[in-house]
Amino acid sequence: MSWDFKSIQNTIDEEIKNSADIAGLEAFRIKYLGRKGLVPQIYASLSTVPPEQKPAVGKWANDLKNYIEELIEKKQKEILSSPRNQSSQKQTFDFTIPGVAPELGHRHVLAQTVNEIYGVFEKLGFTIYEGPEVETEFNNFTALNIPIDHPSRDAFDTFYLDQKDPSTKDRYLLLRSHTSPSQIRVMKKYKPPFAVIVPGKVYRPDAVDASHSFMFHQIEGLLVDEDVKFSDLKGLLTVFCQKLFGNKIKMRFRPHFFPFTEPSAEVDISCYLCGGEGCSTCGRKGWLEILGCGMVNPKVFAAVGYPKDRYAGLAFGLGVERITMLKYGIKDIRIFFGNDVRFLKQF
Ligand code: PHE
Repeated sequence: MSWDFKSIQNTIDEEIKNSADIAGLEAFRIKYLGRKGLVPQIYASLSTVPPEQKPAVGKWANDLKNYIEELIEKKQKEILSSPRNQSSQKQTFDFTIPGVAPELGHRHVLAQTVNEIYGVFEKLGFTIYEGPEVETEFNNFTALNIPIDHPSRDAFDTFYLDQKDPSTKDRYLLLRSHTSPSQIRVMKKYKPPFAVIVPGKVYRPDAVDASHSFMFHQIEGLLVDEDVKFSDLKGLLTVFCQKLFGNKIKMRFRPHFFPFTEPSAEVDISCYLCGGEGCSTCGRKGWLEILGCGMVNPKVFAAVGYPKDRYAGLAFGLGVERITMLKYGIKDIRIFFGNDVRFLKQF
């Protein structure tokens, strides 16, 4: 069988022009490249072509196939981008189909607690300061009057980095184990009077269980002025607890020890579940511990170079997870970091 190459080419050029839409183009494709189309027919006929003509005819068939494929591709782009086609695509969009609403995110419950606590202290004249999570041993321990042999300095209780503190060269940097080192930063940076709260992450190498996490959040409070008394601390924290847990809440200040405050106390609130009767949440005590506090130890003022006997200060530190757990009756700290939307959506 012999083929009139010239006229085939002409017909193709003519027909592609007339394929004005996708359906027409598909008919064109089937006619030439389909299983029973012209190009497969030409290939099939190669067996009847005289051997000396085979290479030339074979090459022509290949070229023709590529040529048609390119034509189709070009034409398809042309059709899809033509204004007529675009407007007809728009018309086929059905506006009556119910849409899929995008899921709206919201603040994490811990961020909500932090914001609520900000809200209370901002009204009391506190400003927010943020300190780094990587700290020096000096800020995290030494300046806070925590002696060199204190167990919290042990590598079992603090994450040390394998990077040395550039300012001392012989001490290692660490992940802060509480927000109190920010007290040192604030005192060095500002001249009293000031009142700040410092929110942020802290790290301790604790085994993770229902009430421990290697990372959690604290909020530190620090107020320094010339005349600050323990009664100011008591008044401030009473307002705070009532704003957060309601006016009916009972509080008690229990004597405690922190190296950086003197005197020091822990604050308990009456159990939200049993109202002070004693239950399993409060360990039958009727009280729940919520924060540590005290008057700034003069040794801390000395460490930041403040003149002797000039200033007095109050400080407190609270755990954001703990407060959130008490507020909402959440029993397991791990759930805050599990990112399960079924939990997160509830707040
Ligand atoms: N830094 C203490 C802790 O992590 C809490 C605290 C802060 C106590 C400020 C007193 C004053 O337990």
